[in-house]
Amino acid sequence: MSQSLSYQVYSDREFVQQYEDSILNNAWNACYERPSTLSLVPENLKDQNVLDAGCGPGVVSEILLERGAMVTAVDYSPEMIKRTLLRTNGKVDARILDLNKGLGELASSSFDVVYCSLVIHYIDDLQQLFSEFARVLKPGGLFVFSTDHPDLAAVDNRAEDLQVRNTVRWDSFNVSIELYQRSWNHIMKALISNSFEPGIVANARPGEECRVRFPKEYNQLLQKPYFICVRAICRKGYRSDEMSAATQRDIFL
Ligand SMILES: C[S@@+](CC[C@H](N)C(=O)[O-])C[C@H]1O[C@@H](n2cnc3c(N)ncnc32)[C@H](O)[C@@H]1O
Repeated sequence: MSQSLSYQVYSDREFVQQYEDSILNNAWNACYERPSTLSLVPENLKDQNVLDAGCGPGVVSEILLERGAMVTAVDYSPEMIKRTLLRTNGKVDARILDLNKGLGELASSSFDVVYCSLVIHYIDDLQQLFSEFARVLKPGGLFVFSTDHPDLAAVDNRAEDLQVRNTVRWDSFNVSIELYQRSWNHIMKALISNSFEPGIVANARPGEECRVRFPKEYNQLLQKPYFICVRAICRKGYRSDEMSAATQRDIFL
């Protein structure tokens, strides 16, 4: 298993407990990123197979279950997988799996939705990850993800295809963590070259709950978006003349 700084942080029991407590109630996750990204997933997921990739402590898995989904939750941190199983009373198929090594044990064309919030900036090779997501999705399936906003990345977004790996300080948890900062071009290229048709690309938006509970953060987040949320359709096996159907339906925000 990877021994990167990020892995060490996400595998630390004390950190995982603090992280779970924090994301359940804070402005950034509970009132900003999570509702923004979840708004791109259908409310009714009855009998849909959903992969929660990089599930963390299972807060999203629990919501997907409530929407009726059959959830497979994967994460490379054994501590996160333990928390996911506890939180969901064992109702998800939870597995320890390193997304940098592919999804070998998951069957091709088996998922209706792949959900991946705040994870892809830890992944070494976006092309490889997206190609695996395309493999496990059914044709026409949805890929929904959120990530750090490319406009805030330490790369020139006017340039073609860039990524840098940085170590950043996460003050609220008193830890340092490694992640990739990527240009728009890098992310979009990885999507399109793996048969994904991006339908919605939106800034995360702080909602009413954020305004009421966290007015300071609300104003900050309104002025400067920190995350993007994307919904793309898996068009593997489609003819090129069928590709535009999604963009006619969805909007580029
Ligand atoms: C910021 S947390 C997000 C958790 C969850 N998706 C959420 O939104 O609440 C990032 C998660 O990605 C997981 N992760 C990072 N790199 C990974 C990898 N290579 N394979 C599997 N999981 C990974 C971490 O263990 C952590 O649980």
